[in-house]
Formats: sequence, structure tokens, C-alpha cells
Amino acid sequence: METFVRRFIIMSIVYLGLAAVVGIAMLGSEKAMALKFVHSHLNMLGWVSMMIYGVGYHILPKFMGRQMHSKKIGEVQFWMANVGLVVMLAAYTLNLYNPSSALVALTVLAGVVELVSVFLFFYNMLKTMMPPVSS
Ligand code: HEM
Ligand code: HEM
Repeated sequence: METFVRRFIIMSIVYLGLAAVVGIAMLGSEKAMALKFVHSHLNMLGWVSMMIYGVGYHILPKFMGRQMHSKKIGEVQFWMANVGLVVMLAAYTLNLYNPSSALVALTVLAGVVELVSVFLFFYNMLKTMMPPVSS
């Protein structure tokens, strides 16, 4: 298994742990409900998406009987997905307690980094799977 693929899977489990802690805080306190976006995206972009990226990068090329299109794109995607997620959620949380337009801009910028990482996965997987292998 490639190092970045293993890292995707490890980080997805880390995000599940963090999301669960935030979720429990939300159960126990109305104030913590302000963190619903943080909880849902630690889960959806952290736990769920990163587990799918990791398993997808490992399994889909094997299903196709091919090499992954680009390991380099996968590595760049790993860093963009993680930095984008952590910075987006950190800036969002700081902005709740200390609102500023700079923090809003940083949240959006990090969200765009996250979005680019989604497109890198999309591109890398399509290039791996197309054209279909003739049987
Ligand atoms: C220990 C585990 C978890 C706890 C304690 C927990 C707790 C919560 C709480 C209290 C809410 C707010 C509900 C409300 O708006 O009234 C919530 C929302 C949410 N949770 Fe969790 N959760 C957990 C695990 C998960 C997991 C594993 C996922 C996804 C894979 C997930 C996805 C979501 C999503 C998407 C929302 C937003 C739903 C909405 O806006 O209606 N949660 N969770
Ligand atoms: C670049 C990536 C993403 C960005 C920037 C983003 C941004 C947002 C924003 C701004 C909201 C509204 C939050 C609010 O009402 O306060 C939201 C809600 C939601 N998003 Fe995303 N999202 C992204 C990716 C995803 C993905 C990949 C999933 C699922 C796999 C997802 C699932 C949800 C759900 C379930 C909600 C409603 C729960 C909530 O209010 O937190 N999002 N998202």
C-alpha cells in the first residue's frame, strides 16, 4: 500500500475520533451546537471521504488491472484535503468566537483548497479507469 493511501486511512479514523468528541459535546450543551458544521464535516470530509479516498486509491486500480494514473497527484491531494479541512474548520470555529472578515475569507479559501482536492481525486480516478479495458 502506498504511504499516502495508508495516511488517508489513518487520518480518516483520527477525524472520526475528533468528530465523535465534538458530537458528544453537542449532545451535552446547546452552545456546542454552534459546532454542527465542524462535526458534520469532520465526519463527511474527514471520516467518510478520506476512508473512500484511501480504499478507492488502493482498490480501484486493482479492479482495472492497472497502475494508478498518478501517485504524485494522490500525494498532493492528501495534503490539500487535510490542510483544507483542518484550516477550514479551525478558521470557522475561531470566527464563531471572534468574528472577522479575514477569518471568513480564510474559511472560504480553505474550502476552495478542499474542493480542488476533490477534483484531483476525480481526475486521478477517471484517468485510472478510462478508457475501459477491452475484454
Ligand atoms: C459518537 C458519535 C456521534 C455523536 C455523539 C453525534 C452527535 C450529533 C449531534 C448531537 C448532532 C446534531 C443533531 C441536531 O442538529 O439536533 C449531529 C449531527 C450530525 N452528525 Fe453526528 N454524531 C456522531 C457520529 C456521526 C457520524 C459517524 C456521522 C457521519 C458519518 C455523523 C454525521 C452527522 C451529520 C451529517 C450531522 C448534521 C445533520 C443535520 O444537519 O441535520 N455523526 N451529530
Ligand atoms: C469543499 C467541501 C465542502 C464545503 C466547503 C462544504 C460546505 C458546507 C456549508 C457551508 C454547509 C452549511 C453549514 C451551515 O448550515 O451552517 C454545509 C452543510 C452540509 N454539508 Fe457540506 N461542504 C463540503 C463538502 C461536503 C461533503 C463532501 C459532504 C458529504 C459527503 C457534505 C455534507 C454536508 C451536510 C450533511 C450538511 C448539512 C449539515 C450541516 O449543517 O453541517 N459537505 N456544507
